[in-house]
Amino acid sequence: MKGKRIVLGVTGGIAAYKSAELVRRLAERGAEVQVVMTAAAQHFVTPTTFQALSGRPVRSDLWDDGHAAGMGHIELARWAELVLVAPASADFLARLAHGLADDLLTTLCLASAAPIAAAPAMNQLMWRNAATQFNVDLLERRGVRMLGPGIGEQACGEHGPGRMLEPPELVACAAALLSPAGPLRGRRVMVTAGPTRECIDPVRFVSNRSSGKMGFALAQAMQEAGAEVVLVSGPVSLPSPRGVRRIDVESCDQMYAAVQRELPGTAIFVGTAAVADYRPVCCAEQKIKKSSETMSLELTRTTDILAHVSASPQRPFVVGFAAETHAVEQYARAKLLAKNLDLIAANEVGHRKAFDCDENALLVLWRGGRIELPSSSKLELARALTGLIVERYLEQPDPGERRSASAGEGADGADTARELAAPSGVRAS
Ligand code: C5P
Repeated sequence: MKGKRIVLGVTGGIAAYKSAELVRRLAERGAEVQVVMTAAAQHFVTPTTFQALSGRPVRSDLWDDGHAAGMGHIELARWAELVLVAPASADFLARLAHGLADDLLTTLCLASAAPIAAAPAMNQLMWRNAATQFNVDLLERRGVRMLGPGIGEQACGEHGPGRMLEPPELVACAAALLSPAGPLRGRRVMVTAGPTRECIDPVRFVSNRSSGKMGFALAQAMQEAGAEVVLVSGPVSLPSPRGVRRIDVESCDQMYAAVQRELPGTAIFVGTAAVADYRPVCCAEQKIKKSSETMSLELTRTTDILAHVSASPQRPFVVGFAAETHAVEQYARAKLLAKNLDLIAANEVGHRKAFDCDENALLVLWRGGRIELPSSSKLELARALTGLIVERYLEQPDPGERRSASAGEGADGADTARELAAPSGVRAS
């Protein structure tokens, strides 16, 4: 982080005292830190503390001395290589979401081309409030990175989400945001994961066995490779990978709607979700009573999300999964062709295989090629598969065509991809 220029925004919250340590740690790593405080933040910590730790006068007013000295909000916005707001209060997130420019911090956020990251800190009910969640969702869609919040004891005595991440974690996140480009930097990747639930009545559903672990590991591996990742997940009990935007859904219809909404600007689509292939023709409004010995459910086909993405006009690079109990390669290759995929990852499933466990093995197929990825942890496997996807994606005539609308610099090229794509023990043919 040596010489990197960071604007650290501090807004009003009890966690502001932790930002003093954050400044110290960023400065230790060689970063130049310019602290910008809101008026509310000064009720919690004095500017003198931050000035002493950063070695720079703290800025807080649109019309203060810095402005007079030629370092107005536009100059400050241009100077920043990263704008990190920690703590980010509910009020600040709301103002940022609505494009207000009523103080120095919001104004320079609007005027800066640098990545913006926010570490929310607030009471857990304020965090869970629909208004805050709406604002956070809006900001994430615009590319603002949410760092946290953490879950735990709060200064107000309550327990839940809303704790600011600890300074060492924030330093690591800042370093990643400032780090050199990964091969997928500037590309948006969408991953579907987990099962879907298709409603029978208010208490019952049809579903598939799926823990979501493979999809979550892939989302993490794609994020590590520099991509902006959107993870559309069915009901699972897994924490979100850091830096990944997650959209929770239940049914196939909801997953399809979320995928369609997010598709513009997506460079790579990976369908790992175990989407239910059939759903009940109708969902009973009231609980069905068990009055007869047998019962029939009329089912109808769900939308094939993967096939629709593959046939869409803004078709991204499309990767599918195939879970088969037998004739794995034969069925997977048929699926590759039938759904017009760029690549398919197949695994053998069955009793005590693949589901719910942390290890797996994959057979990866594309037109004219195959590679076996031997059994390893799902995260290692995901990293290896990401390498293969990157390699094949970059081999296309013009992968730049599929860059995200919010793209930054271009990809680093196939060397990094090849490094990523070379897990030990791989057998290719
Ligand atoms: O045809 P099959 O369900 O075996 O294909 C599996 C692949 O298709 C997976 O990538 C899965 O995520 C995707 N899929 C989908 N929507 C469905 C069914 C499967 O996206 N309704």
